[in-house]
Order: sequence, then structure tokens, then C-alpha cells
Amino acid sequence: MPQSATKPFIDVLSGQRQSIPPMWMMRQAGRYLPEYREVRAKAGGFLDLCFNPQLAAEVTLQPIRRFGFDAAIIFSDILVIPHALGRSVRFEVGEGPRLDPLDDPAKVATLAAHADFGKLEPVFEALKLVRTALDPKTALIGFCGAPWTVATYMVAGQGTPDQAPARMMAYRHPETFAKIIDVLVENSIQYLLLQLEAGANALQIFDTWAGVLPPAEFARWSVQPTRRIVEGVRAKVPDAKIIGFPRGAGAQLPAYVEATDVNAVSIDWTAEPGFIRERVQSKIAVQGNLDPLVLITGGAALDRAVDDVLANFAQGRFIFNLGHGIQPETPIAHVEQMIRRVRG
Ligand code: CP3
Repeated sequence: MPQSATKPFIDVLSGQRQSIPPMWMMRQAGRYLPEYREVRAKAGGFLDLCFNPQLAAEVTLQPIRRFGFDAAIIFSDILVIPHALGRSVRFEVGEGPRLDPLDDPAKVATLAAHADFGKLEPVFEALKLVRTALDPKTALIGFCGAPWTVATYMVAGQGTPDQAPARMMAYRHPETFAKIIDVLVENSIQYLLLQLEAGANALQIFDTWAGVLPPAEFARWSVQPTRRIVEGVRAKVPDAKIIGFPRGAGAQLPAYVEATDVNAVSIDWTAEPGFIRERVQSKIAVQGNLDPLVLITGGAALDRAVDDVLANFAQGRFIFNLGHGIQPETPIAHVEQMIRRVRG
């Protein structure tokens, strides 16, 4: 598509380094913005906001208007897939997600094979609204959770510190756990294709909990399912641009890159720069990796940290981002300071 040639964010994913790295922030639409809190208050629940196309489009555009980021990410959540699979998904204020736990083989046997994508129609509608409203130079990112990370919430029924319930099920009942993963792979492929059709220019696969797995389990439950999703999407859209975020993958990043064939990896702040340059950025684009806590801190510490990220990665194919989502208590002035520092 000729249009994508004008988007610096897509150009990096296509292999062309930009002298000023394109930038956006994970969780850029969110509680640190007063205009988000205002919309959130009138939407009702969090999922009501995700499934209201006008309001979801509005909060997606808010950080673009305020900061002029190079990419917008559609406002939604990785847990809309379990919701569309008919699982109960609720977001309790101040507590995070609550699902009915899928914690034994008998319950997994009742898991639907196919999501009801009609339930996700508002997400596709919001994507269309955002794509129409965005400047052609600004990219629109669609996303899903990686099967492993989505499964950790489905099995436990909530967030846990160490994903023990999913890890235990994967050891005790590998066939049962593989069934959950397979259902998520197939439905994530469909979901990502529908997002591309609705106007997404690139996709990100969030594997927030990849880092808790030992290497053999990481290969089986994180890398292989992600590889199947990339393959499934590219079977229909051969030039689909896909970013992987296997948070905490560390020394296993080169194996992830090699096997999944993603166009870029998002790295967290613990990544060792020399290793990333030699083993990852020599092959594909890198996205990251400012520590969200230094963005809360601000001042000289923030300037130093931004300079370090640029010195580490901006000589190659690079997208400036945080190493994980922005925290709600982050001052807006610090975001502005970071942007000025990156763009010079
Ligand atoms: O990045 C963006 O701005 C796009 C929107 C987005 C949200 N969640 C909105 C959201 C994206 C890309 C996600 C991904 C997501 N959701 C992940 C993977 C990335 C990551 O941050 O690790 C995960 C693990 C989830 C599941 C989830 N959703 C949790 C654990 C929580 C509760 C924790 C929290 O931050 O409140 C959510 C809720 C959620 N998703 C909020 C937002 C803005 C906060 C809800 C609110 O406003 O009340």
C-alpha cells in the first residue's frame, strides 16, 4: 500500500531506519490523562468503554492530539477474546480483571472453539472511526494478547504474581492446557485479521508474562503459538507488520525472533543493550525501552535515561517506547519532556 510509505512507524517495521525514531507509549490512553478519566467516568465500566465505538475512538485519539505520537493503539484489552469466547470477564475497580477460572480439565472441556466476533464489532467500528480521523502519517496499531498471557488470566481467573496456576496446569495437564492455547491461537488469528480489515496498519502481540517460563516451556507456550499466529495472519495478509512483546524473555529473545518472524520486538528496560544490538537489532527492528518509573521521576534522571535509550538503539532500526505501560501517576509534563528529548 503506497500510503504506508508515508508513515515513519511503518517504515521502521519495513526495515528503514528513521533519523528521528518514531515514538508511542504502551498504555498511552489511560488514567494519567485527565481527559481519559473524564470519558472513563461517563462510560460506566471498563468494558463498556472498550465496546462503545465513539468513546473508544475518542480515548484512542486523545494522546495523539496531545502529544503527536507516530502511532495510535486502539483502546481495548487483551481479555476481550475470553469475553468473545463466552467466558465471564469483569474489571473490578482497583483490583484488575476477574474471570471465571478455567482451572481443571472438566471446565476446559466446555471451552468454546470459536469466538463470537459479533461481540467485538464495536472494536472494529472504533478502528474505522480512528483510521478516518487520523493523519495519514500516523499509524494505527491493532493488538491481541499472546495465547500464553491470555491463558494465565483464564486459568487463574485473575492476575497473579507468578502465574502459578497456568504453569501448574501446563505441567500437570499439558494436553488440556494445549487445548486452551490452540483455541486462543485460532481466534487470535481471526481477530487480528479483522482488525487489519477495519483499518489497523500494524499489530502487536502482548506476551506480558513470557518471562516466567523456563526455556523449554517458553518455546512451547510462548514462541510456538506466537509463530502460528504470525503465520496464520500472513497466510491472508502476506505483508502484515507485526511486533512481538515477550516481556522478560531476556537471553531467549534471539530464539523468539528467529522462530516467530515478527518485524520488531518490544523490549523491557532490563535488556542488555550490546546483546540486543548484536543478536536482535541486526535482524529486525527494536522497540522500547524506557523504564516507566524514570518517567514518573522526571528531571535530570529522565533526561539521562532517554539519552541512554537513544545511545543504545537509535543508530539502528528503532521505535522509541517504554519498556512496559505508562503508570497512572505519571506527570504529563514528564511525557512532554521525554518527547522533546527524543525529537530534539
Ligand atoms: O496501550 C493502550 O493504550 C491500549 C489499550 C490497552 C489496555 N490494555 C487498556 C487498559 C492495552 C494494549 C492493554 C493490554 C493488556 N491488558 C495487557 C498486556 C500489556 C500489559 O500492560 O502488560 C494485559 C496484561 C491486560 C490485562 C489487564 N487490563 C489488566 C491486568 C488490567 C488491570 C491493571 C490496570 O492497569 O488497571 C487491565 C485494565 C486496563 N486495560 C486499563 C486500561 C486503560 C485500566 C482500566 C481503567 O481505566 O479502569
